Amino acid sequence: MDPEAFRRLGHELIDWVADYRQGIAERPVMARVTPGEIKRCFPEAPPEVGESLGGLIGELERDILPGLSHWQHPRFFGYFPANAPLESVLGDYLATGLGVLGLSWQASPALTELEEVTTDWVRQMVGLSDGWRGVIEDTASTGALVALICARERATGYSLAHGGLQGEPRPLVVYASRQAHSSVEKAALLAGFGRDNLRWIETDEALAMRPDALAAAIADDTARDRVPCAVVATTGTTGSTALDPIADIAGIAQEHGIWLHVDAAMAGSAMILPECRWMWGGVEAADSLVINAHKWLGAAFDCSLYYVRDAEHLVRVMSTNPSYLQSGVDDRVSNLRDWGIPLGRRFRALKMWLLIRANGVAGLQARLRRDLANAQWLAEQVENAPGWRVVAPVPLQTLCLRHEPPGLGGEALDRYTLAWCDRINRSGAAYLTPAVLDDRWMVRVSIGATPTEREDVAALWRAMQAATADAGTAG
Ligand SMILES: Cc1ncc(COP(=O)(O)O)c(C=O)c1O
Repeated sequence: MDPEAFRRLGHELIDWVADYRQGIAERPVMARVTPGEIKRCFPEAPPEVGESLGGLIGELERDILPGLSHWQHPRFFGYFPANAPLESVLGDYLATGLGVLGLSWQASPALTELEEVTTDWVRQMVGLSDGWRGVIEDTASTGALVALICARERATGYSLAHGGLQGEPRPLVVYASRQAHSSVEKAALLAGFGRDNLRWIETDEALAMRPDALAAAIADDTARDRVPCAVVATTGTTGSTALDPIADIAGIAQEHGIWLHVDAAMAGSAMILPECRWMWGGVEAADSLVINAHKWLGAAFDCSLYYVRDAEHLVRVMSTNPSYLQSGVDDRVSNLRDWGIPLGRRFRALKMWLLIRANGVAGLQARLRRDLANAQWLAEQVENAPGWRVVAPVPLQTLCLRHEPPGLGGEALDRYTLAWCDRINRSGAAYLTPAVLDDRWMVRVSIGATPTEREDVAALWRAMQAATADAGTAG
């Protein structure tokens, strides 16, 4: 494609995306296709010769759009929000359009330096001290893996330079609460700790890690000649946005020389609000933390911010230095390939830059405060409605709900909960994701898509009431 053809089709595509966003509220939120339906729209074999892209927009309408659940829809309440406001979409588009890679500082100096600038902007926005240095990763899953590898290497005096974990005389142990995200388990397994050395710590009634249970597990391991290595605490768990008590956990971690990684993938965005910072009080004593700017904050996916206090240690664990990547300025610059796992690096900082510039800190704060207020409003409606229950505290913008008709319990209640949630999703009126909490299904309502206003939350509440109106016949 030559630049002129790109210009023509590019303009059309931008118009199409703008129209899509403008009319998104009219669409059913959840995709209505059946498995395999989209695949059948495409030829089984690739085209032998190049084809014109002239009909692309028609094909997008016909073959792709029906297969989308619309994450940027004002009544998308599933999972956690993954906002992609259009200014950050432009940043992402720019990154691809420029087509540069940050293999080293010299390979694209602006890529590295804007990443340093924007991660430092966010550091200031969330109130972290200047002892922290940040880097952009793809996801929080990668951040957890990097953190646990760094923890492993600190605890073993750089075992990777010798026999690796296989050369260690005693097993290393990782701790996380039962409510930690599945990526923590995955990271621990991939980092070589082994399932036997991953300990799940009990939570309290607010679903937060119990520091006394953590201390007891550490004492038990120490007595059995095992090496407590890392603890992952979560600020804003996936199930219910529960808040592990970071200060207490940090105290225990410091006492035993254990690495503390704070998973603030979701709730980290809220730390741009000074009134929310108590939620991760004590975070300055952590070793690493992750904030998914691609969630609530609104840097288009993927854009996960990984912060460390000891960047030298990170670089020592992650660095590679093949001759073809060396340059004369290496002693004066950051080579971000040494700050994580991949060598190749996209210019993700562009979308952070445009997001923050277009909204300003005040604009982002106002949007998040709107969402927090909407969550409190919905919690009030639910708590005051007969038969409804908010089943976990609501510190942020996610509610865990159940409608509990009299006489319905156990598995019958589970079936009922899944059925009314599914009815709403299939209706297209809103999108919700159910999840298990305390062995029973509940429905999560995660407010915070960029275009979601109070009237959308009110519409959801009406839809939930309508979907449960025939509760007498349920079960
Ligand atoms: C608390 C928490 N940690 C980690 C993750 C994993 O995020 P990612 O998709 O960036 O790996 C999630 C995803 O929702 C999450 O909620």
